[in-house]
Amino acid sequence: MKGNMFVSFTCIIFSCVWTAAVNAKQETWRSDLSDAIQIGVSSEGFSRAVVDCGDQEMAFVISLDEEFDGVLYTRGSFSSKNTNCFRKANGGKDFALKFSYNECGVKFDAAAGGDTTTVIVQFDDDLIFPGDLAFAIICNRTAPRLDDDNDEESDLPMRSRITLVAADPGAQETGSAAVTSSSTSQVATLYPPEPKSHQEL
Ligand SMILES: *[C@@H]1O[C@H](CO)[C@@H](O)[C@H](O)[C@H]1NC(C)=O
Repeated sequence: MKGNMFVSFTCIIFSCVWTAAVNAKQETWRSDLSDAIQIGVSSEGFSRAVVDCGDQEMAFVISLDEEFDGVLYTRGSFSSKNTNCFRKANGGKDFALKFSYNECGVKFDAAAGGDTTTVIVQFDDDLIFPGDLAFAIICNRTAPRLDDDNDEESDLPMRSRITLVAADPGAQETGSAAVTSSSTSQVATLYPPEPKSHQEL
């Protein structure tokens, strides 16, 4: 324990941020790009993104505007090909990832209010670029089921939430300007901030 604390402390003093960024994204992130390009939060290229908080599994579903042949994965799972956490697309616009609460980087985050992981929608097979999408998805598994008795829905706590975040793991938190959708039911649906004229739902 003391050893761990000392290591953590040392890490904070020297290079915690750098280490975290490299660890999280060592497969796709190149440090030479990080100086040159601000990835930021992208909200373009999709018409709808959904988190579905099931009893045993959480699912992420996205409808993209264009044919997609990139990759979809939970942050930290880029190299775990052929698992529930990674999917290579070969055309099509609608994609889903479904995984249980003990895989794909899912962690309980008390501050966020539930079990959470981040899904990256990356247009290039290997590298993160500006325009890539990322979504933090959260499931509050202690929240009551709507169908139990839902006459007073407005008093119910958040059960599912999906928030646009930066694809770059080293980016700052987006804060209060975040584009987010919360629901008291199992499913939360996020639409892009500006309605698109060609949106098809
Ligand atoms: C999650 O559900 C619990 C139990 O209903 C509730 O007390 C809590 O406020 C909820 N969390 C959030 C972030 O709404």
